[in-house]
Amino acid sequence: MSTTNYIGKEISRVEGKAKVTGTAKYAAEFNVATGITYGYVVSSPVAKGKIVAVDTRQALALKGVLQIFTHENVMKTAWFDSSYQEQDSPPSGSPFRPLQSDEIQFAQQPIALVVADTFELARYAATLVHFEFEAETNLVTELELNLDKARPAKKHRFPVSKPRGDADKAFADSEFKVREEYFHGYEHHNPMEMFASTIIYNEDDTLTIYDKTQGVFNSQSYIKSVFGLSTEQARVISPYVGGGFGSGLRPQYQLFLAVLAALELKRSVKVVLTRQQMFSFGHRPATLQRVAIGADKEGKIQSIINEGFSETSQFEDYTENIVNWAGFVYDCDNTKLDHKLVPLDVFTPMDMRAPGGVTGMFALETAVDEAAYAVGMDPLEFRLKNYSEKDKNEGKPYSSKELREAYRQGAEKFGWSKRNAAVRATQEGNQLIGWGVATGCWEAMQMPGRAKAKLSVDGKLEVSSGTADIGTGTYTAMTQVAAETLGLPLEDVRFKLGDTLLPLAPLEGGSWTMASVGSAVKSVCETLQTRLLRLAKDLKDSPFAGAEKKDVTFADGKITLNGDTSKSVEYTYLMKVSGKNFIEEDTTSLPNMLKQSGYSRYTHSAVFVEVKVDEDFGAIHVTRVVNAVAAGRIINTKTSRNQVLGGTVWGIGQALYEDSIMDDQYGRFMNHNLAEYHVAVNADVHDIDVIFVEEHDDIVNPLGVKGLGEIGIVGVAAAISNAVYHATGKRVRSLPIQLDKVM
Ligand code: MOS
Repeated sequence: MSTTNYIGKEISRVEGKAKVTGTAKYAAEFNVATGITYGYVVSSPVAKGKIVAVDTRQALALKGVLQIFTHENVMKTAWFDSSYQEQDSPPSGSPFRPLQSDEIQFAQQPIALVVADTFELARYAATLVHFEFEAETNLVTELELNLDKARPAKKHRFPVSKPRGDADKAFADSEFKVREEYFHGYEHHNPMEMFASTIIYNEDDTLTIYDKTQGVFNSQSYIKSVFGLSTEQARVISPYVGGGFGSGLRPQYQLFLAVLAALELKRSVKVVLTRQQMFSFGHRPATLQRVAIGADKEGKIQSIINEGFSETSQFEDYTENIVNWAGFVYDCDNTKLDHKLVPLDVFTPMDMRAPGGVTGMFALETAVDEAAYAVGMDPLEFRLKNYSEKDKNEGKPYSSKELREAYRQGAEKFGWSKRNAAVRATQEGNQLIGWGVATGCWEAMQMPGRAKAKLSVDGKLEVSSGTADIGTGTYTAMTQVAAETLGLPLEDVRFKLGDTLLPLAPLEGGSWTMASVGSAVKSVCETLQTRLLRLAKDLKDSPFAGAEKKDVTFADGKITLNGDTSKSVEYTYLMKVSGKNFIEEDTTSLPNMLKQSGYSRYTHSAVFVEVKVDEDFGAIHVTRVVNAVAAGRIINTKTSRNQVLGGTVWGIGQALYEDSIMDDQYGRFMNHNLAEYHVAVNADVHDIDVIFVEEHDDIVNPLGVKGLGEIGIVGVAAAISNAVYHATGKRVRSLPIQLDKVM
């Protein structure tokens, strides 16, 4: 094997040193030598109503306060909804337009931007801006209390799968029945890095925009259409992102406000949100699911029903795939699914790590567990008994599905066979011990992606694409694919991303980046192979004269003839003799629809959990997790494991802690800080084992990868709630599982 094989290896992050030494810069850290100004956002204390008076005089009188933007003095921006729509906008509704009217639509709505010479001054001046409101009372803020307002989405991003068979009759006829409601409340993304935009106002009146985003092209096209700028006037750059989890899929309002101020003042402006303001936009929607599962005497599932409700705002219809999982994850001929929205007086929900999947699989996997107990079968055996060999929602086979192997390897590692079937039967002092299992599932998608590659005469390769690395390991994995495809040492390859001057890439989301951009990187490096082979064939008396690509190997910086490995030529030599300083290619990789459309494409996981529950206090500790994942080819075993570990930790947080608590009188999230919005921390995390099951897939994309950003969290919450039941005999169907629900 050559020394330039990197795919499937454990490789540390290529940008690791830049990150730990602080040279990696985030959106708020870019500066100009002199003259940058600071914007501070004033947030509405009222959740719904009208602004009836604004008084900025006191604040404006302070020396160093440059301007205060409110709905009364902002420049004209685009009028039509379509100008505010971007790649992750819900397909129907009116996107929020900051400072465009006196109307208040949600708590903490930005109502002014104070711009000053220093951040401290801007923040102080913001306290001196006086508003008067006409506040509406009787706010509608709780999903469960407003189900009477439920209606179908005007447009659904994931149309609900059609019913099969007769689910009601099959349920009625079933020997064993479970019919329950499953709920989780509002959750917020809370990435470490706050949303920030630094706008550099250049001498030629163009803007260089450093934005915290999961897609520079999305921020750019939004700014262009809202402010009527050209591509050249709005370059967006985002080399590093301190966590996204979906919150950066939509441009957030600090981008709008910072650009507005820069254009009006013709100055460079920086706007950074506060942690409190991080609770002022999209969130995982609260959901309620009514799930029914019927099984026959043998434990074969006969009927699955999921009637889901999720919250949206009054101005946009946010939808996600919550219920369709119930139609295909298990084999069942009678299914009935439905999904309705309940508009509330909140900001529009948005995608949050495995949107809909986390939610739908929590309800389904808890209900399936309940069904297993009803039947009297081991929960893992019950899942295997109802294993789906085919996606019956779509009527298609899976492109690959090694879930059975994930169950097997996960169970073995966990020691599932030693499980005591009885509930509340295993104890260690005052700790009740329980074991639970759940299935995870997420889509394996591919989007069009483009990449450029430039090989220089010194043997260095630069590959680039305007994608993002939100902490997922994109820099590293792309570098590996490029290095291995062209056969160059890893240290001679550099991958660039996060700049609208680079080739067009999709948003980094949906776990599709490796499949989409990775395929483009592979493809562009293969195009360089073709160029190099041509140079080799053109050599005088070339041993490669009659060779085609299949006859040679590109590795270790040279082309070698497969039939006679003594015949090889170095790339640097080829470039020198042909007088080229560099060769460059640019390739677009499109999903092969013809090949893909006949198959259903998903990643799967089997999650095994041990919990210890304090008998007296109900305190829950997740002491062991085994997360066995089947996600196609693994490019980097280290960063992949990081992804699944992170997802699992978040699953623990989701199951036990995370909850944005609404004050129904004022329509505000009360715990809008990290002291009161609890996430899993080191003390909550014990043993986590990640297994990658071997899975070959030639259909999903040319790399055979399925994506790993989201699968790690799916199923974890259900496995924990199932383990809590096994430990205590108490079934908790509402997340988070807090002490009072267990005691
Ligand atoms: Mo992910 S919720 O698609 O960033």
